Amino acid sequence: MPRNKNRVVIFDTTLRDGEQSPGFSMSIEEKLTLARQLAKLKVDVIEAGFPRSSPGDFESVRKIASVVKGPIIAGLARAIDADIDSCNEALKPAKKKRIHTFIGTSEQHIKFQMRSTHSKVLKMAVKAVTRAKGYVKDVEFSAMDAVRTDRKFLYDILEAAIDAGATTVNIPDTVGYAIPSEFGAMISEIMQNVPNIKKAVVSVHCHNDLGLAVSNSLAAVLAGARQIECAVNGIGERAGNAALEELVMAIQTRKDYMNVDTGVESKEIAKTSKLLVSITGVQIQPNKAIVGENAFAHESGIHQDGVLKERTTFEIMTPHSIGLSDNKLVLGKHSGRHAFRKRLEELGFTLKTDDLNSAFEKFKILADKKKEIFDEDLTAIVDEEIGEPKNPVFEFLSAQVSSGSNTIPTATVQLKRDGETLTDSGIGDGPVDATCRAIERITSIQGRMISYNIRSLGVGKDAVGDVSLRVKIDEQIFAGRGSSTDVIEASAKAWLNAINKKAVGK
Ligand code: KIV
Ligand code: ZN
Repeated sequence: MPRNKNRVVIFDTTLRDGEQSPGFSMSIEEKLTLARQLAKLKVDVIEAGFPRSSPGDFESVRKIASVVKGPIIAGLARAIDADIDSCNEALKPAKKKRIHTFIGTSEQHIKFQMRSTHSKVLKMAVKAVTRAKGYVKDVEFSAMDAVRTDRKFLYDILEAAIDAGATTVNIPDTVGYAIPSEFGAMISEIMQNVPNIKKAVVSVHCHNDLGLAVSNSLAAVLAGARQIECAVNGIGERAGNAALEELVMAIQTRKDYMNVDTGVESKEIAKTSKLLVSITGVQIQPNKAIVGENAFAHESGIHQDGVLKERTTFEIMTPHSIGLSDNKLVLGKHSGRHAFRKRLEELGFTLKTDDLNSAFEKFKILADKKKEIFDEDLTAIVDEEIGEPKNPVFEFLSAQVSSGSNTIPTATVQLKRDGETLTDSGIGDGPVDATCRAIERITSIQGRMISYNIRSLGVGKDAVGDVSLRVKIDEQIFAGRGSSTDVIEASAKAWLNAINKKAVGK
C-alpha cells in the first residue's frame, strides 16, 4: 500500500465488528464470498474476524487468509498472549497480514470491566504489541473507548505502543459519544502530543450511536488521520460503524475540500452492498445515503425536470459512480447462453460453469413467465445462485396454495431429496405460514421466522418478488432469499434456502 500523505487507508470491519452484531452472523462460505467482493472493491484491509473468539471465527479468518488476495488480512486479538498466538496461527497463510490488538483505556473500562490500573493496562498493551511484532511486521494497536480516556494516559499508551512496534494506532469512539469538531480537535491534539506519532498511521473507528460516525471519521481525516475503520452498509455493534460507502463517496465527491483519496473502486459499491443484504437478509432503509433504493431517485416534478435538463442541478454524483446501471431491458426468452453470460460479466459477475448453467436454467424459467428481463432480475438470479449452499439437501419443486377470505390457508409443497420427490401439506395463519409449515413437515426442520421482507424488483404487475427472511433454528439464525414472479413461491424458496443452510451443517 503506498504511504502517500494524501491517501486514506480503508480498513473494512464488516466481517468482524459488523458480523458480531445481532442478526448479521454469516457462515464461513458466506464470509468468504463477501471477502472476495471486498477485494474487488479494493479496500486496503479486511478485518476477517476475531480468531480466538470461536473455532468458527478462527476457521473463517484462516480460510480468508489463504484464499483472498489483494488486501491486507487482519485478525483481532485482545491484549493477551493466547489471543495473539491464535490470531497469528489463523493469519499464517496470508501474504499480507496484520495483527490488531486492543485494550480498554477509559476509566469505565479499566475500573469497572477489567478492575485494573493504568500502569497494568499500559504494560499489557506493550506486551501484546511486542508479542504480535514477534510474529508480523504490521501491528495495529487500539485504545478501546479512547474518546472517554484520560487524555494524558491516552498519549502515554499510544507512545508506548508505537515504541513497542505498532505501525497503526487506532482511536476508537467505541460508544459513539463524540461530536465532529471535538473529535477532529482530539486527533489534532494526539498529533501534537504523542512524540513518536509520525512513526505510525493514525486510525479512527467510530460508532454511530448518535448518528455521527461518518462525520466524526471525516473530521478526523481533516485533522490528519489516515486510516478509517468502517463497514459496508454501516453495520456493526448497536447503531453500527461508519458506513464505508458514505465515507468513500464523501471523500470522492468532495475531493475539492477533503484533499485526500482512497483506493476503493467505487463502481463496486452497489454490488457489495447488495451482496451483504442478500447474505444476511437484512434490508437497508430506502433513504439510506448512497446505497438506499431512493438514493438516486428524483421524485418531485421540479427535481425531475432539473435532472432531465442537466444532471448536476440536483445530482452531486452519478449512479454509475457506485456501479448502478440504468434499469435497462436486457434479455428476453430467445436470448442464448452467450448473451446471458456476457451481460452477467458486464454486471461484474463471473460464474463458474456449473453455477452459470444453473443460473441460465433459472433465467429461462423466468423468461417464460416474464416478457422483459431487467438487470435487477439477473442480479436476483445470481444472488440466489451465490446464496444457495452447494449441493443443497432439499430442492424446491412446487408449491400449491389455497387461501382467501373465510378459508383456512392450506399449502401443498413438493421438494426433492436424493432424487426422491417428497410431498406434504400444511395449514397456517396465511399462505406464507402454511407453505413454511409444509416445508417444516417435509424436512423435519422447525424454525421461527424472525424477519420477513418482500420487495418488487423493477416495476409492472409481472415484476419479480424478492423475499429475504431470517429464521431462528436451534438458537442459530439463518438468512434465506428467494425470488419469483409468484410471491408465495418466492417465500417458499427463501424459507427453504435458510433450511438448507441448516441441513447442510447437520
Ligand atoms: O469499538 C471498538 O472499540 C472496537 C475495537 C475492538 C477496535 O471495535
Ligand atoms: Zn467497534
